[in-house]
Amino acid sequence: MKLLVTGGAGFIGSNFIHYWLKNYANDEIFNLDKLTYAGNLENLKDIENDSRYHFIKGDICNLNLVKSTLEKEDIDVIVHFAAQTHVDKSVLLTERGKGNSDITKLFDESIDGDFILNNVWGTHILLEAAVKAWKKSDGTYDPQKRFHHISTDEVFGALSLEDKNKFNEKTVYNPRSPYSASKAAADHLVRAYYFSFGLPITISNCSNNYGPYMYPEKLLALAITNLIEGKKVPIYGDGKYVRDWLQVEDHCRAIEAILAKGRVGETYCLGGLTEDVNNLELIRMVLEIMGKSEEQLVYVKDRPGHDRRYAVDYAKATQELGWRPNIGLTEGLKAMVDWYINNPDWWKPIKSGKYLEYYKQQYSERGK
Ligand code: NAD
Ligand code: TYD
Repeated sequence: MKLLVTGGAGFIGSNFIHYWLKNYANDEIFNLDKLTYAGNLENLKDIENDSRYHFIKGDICNLNLVKSTLEKEDIDVIVHFAAQTHVDKSVLLTERGKGNSDITKLFDESIDGDFILNNVWGTHILLEAAVKAWKKSDGTYDPQKRFHHISTDEVFGALSLEDKNKFNEKTVYNPRSPYSASKAAADHLVRAYYFSFGLPITISNCSNNYGPYMYPEKLLALAITNLIEGKKVPIYGDGKYVRDWLQVEDHCRAIEAILAKGRVGETYCLGGLTEDVNNLELIRMVLEIMGKSEEQLVYVKDRPGHDRRYAVDYAKATQELGWRPNIGLTEGLKAMVDWYINNPDWWKPIKSGKYLEYYKQQYSERGK
């Protein structure tokens, strides 16, 4: 099989490429990534000379590039990860007009920071290229073709702490941040291309991932690297925000199961092996693993519009695909801490330069 992976130099995409090449000796992967601040070829250093792996530096918004790659390389499957992914940045960007005018310069000089452009327009172009390259004159597609879109549980909005319900495939969309709104729009476009043009799509909406190569702007990677550096861990608001934590390799196995057994046109919700762990409880687990005390926590000003709780019911994926997460939170966190302790050469260069300016804006000068 030949796969086009978009955003393969990011956190989940690079884990997926490693997973796939380890398990499918005869497959080939083409990684299309424009290398925003979050894209890092160091994530793929160990396989850069593997003859089954090819890197294409480019933008999913470039229709000619995407279409010609699909045709020239005879791609069977697209796994679409590429996106702007950080909620805080999506909020900061939207505050551009409100006195934060130079904030974009802190992480991206260009239009990279535009969530609508990359997540909505980029997905639209990718869909368009897939139809143009794959649809045969009789209106059908070869049976091995698949466009798998990676999305998030954040499109469903926020649950309350009292609510015992979880998100599932029937939950009504109710995104509340510019990031989740852009992902929701992309999901709708992907489904529209299935209904309008018969494009063989599948979608997965998964919960917060954690594991190696997680960029240190997101909670767990930021917390672990700060603790290694002897810095404090910023806790937004009261810290009683609940996320559903999915170890990234469990996520990769789920994508594998969807590609193998998922029904075309269907959506699968994916979550981790956790029952309502809030940020404070989560970071206390990390403190214990790392032998640190509560003094390492610092309460900072809350995120605007902060979603209170996410929780995912993955029963459909279990019933239809036989998938369930395997990696428990304590086990996964210990492995993640070990990985960051053993790989300072990966994260230390990231936490320098522009990142430090962003950190100052976002944390040191954030206030309470
Ligand atoms: P990331 O920010 O670590 O990586 C994103 C990658 O996409 C980067 O390599 C970047 O260079 C690339 N990219 C961005 N715009 C591009 C464009 N226009 N053209 C080509 N490449 C582009 O993201 P991640 O955390 O690995 O997330 C991957 C996907 O999974 C995203 O679609 C995200 O919405 C989804 N997701 C993430 C999580 C999570 O916890 N990280 C949870 C659920 C869903
Ligand atoms: P994050 O990793 O940004 O993921 P998302 O917002 O997509 O769920 O944040 C996870 C949770 O941790 C969220 O409730 C916000 C909170 N948070 C902190 O308390 N401190 C931090 O420094 C960061 C980055 C996040």
